[in-house]
Amino acid sequence: MTISPDVAAESTRTPRSQRLRHYAMTPPTFFAVEYAINPWMDTSTPVDVDLAVAQWANLRDTYCRLGHTVDLVEPVPGLPDMVYAANAGLIVNGTAIVARFKHAERRGESVAYATWMDQSGHHPVATRHVNEGQGDLLVVGSMILAGTGFRTQPQAHVEVATITGMPVVSLELVDPRFYHLDTALTVLDDSTIAYYPPAFTAAARGVLRELFPDAIEVASTDAYVLGLNAVSDGKHVVYPIQAAGFAKQLYHAGFHPVGVDLSELLKGGGSVKCCTLEVFS
Ligand code: ARG
Repeated sequence: MTISPDVAAESTRTPRSQRLRHYAMTPPTFFAVEYAINPWMDTSTPVDVDLAVAQWANLRDTYCRLGHTVDLVEPVPGLPDMVYAANAGLIVNGTAIVARFKHAERRGESVAYATWMDQSGHHPVATRHVNEGQGDLLVVGSMILAGTGFRTQPQAHVEVATITGMPVVSLELVDPRFYHLDTALTVLDDSTIAYYPPAFTAAARGVLRELFPDAIEVASTDAYVLGLNAVSDGKHVVYPIQAAGFAKQLYHAGFHPVGVDLSELLKGGGSVKCCTLEVFS
């Protein structure tokens, strides 16, 4: 019997296992690009809200099909970026931290998300320094990788470590296109990540190489369509469909890439992960 190259490759893929997740999402009912606070946003580009809602609903349905729980947060008029629920805060280890936004345009979201956290039984604490939630605070196993350089302040990393009791590893970002950690790094499971090295300082790259010697490094073409703004359940990786090269890398590493199109939400500088707050129990 002859084994075709594909079958041979298949047999060497690392088996991956799914853990069911709890997410919160906010529909883009009031989505718009009315101000520009990152290089992806251009206020002269028209936005199709109906299309944004349909693409977002497909993402929510994808999570539900994979068996995950999705809670919905009520959107608020006048807060067009509220769809990027990852920025709401960080709920982990029995604690809830609500975001403190850098830009005035987003500050009302903290109030809305604190109300939602309260109503769902997570009593939120605020940080004194800027923290943009899971945009910059990514849980990997028992630690937190924390971005800084554009939004979340390093002093907030210290606050997050104190509040959660978890070790926090600071990583400095250098390219304004990758202004939040979740635009440059994906957590794939408790010990595996993917990232785009040029988005980080040499020091941060050194830390990542040390902690994750088997990390997947993605190419510019995938990073520049926000391919790393993806969500993994340990097996399935829901990723922006434009990132075809990243999907191949994921497949060869044993993951199941599930592509979704969030082209309208990319106009605000976000994709799959930005629209998804994971609630860690
Ligand atoms: N327009 C939003 C901002 O610039 C996009 C936030 C994207 N969210 C994320 N988790 N990266 O703040």
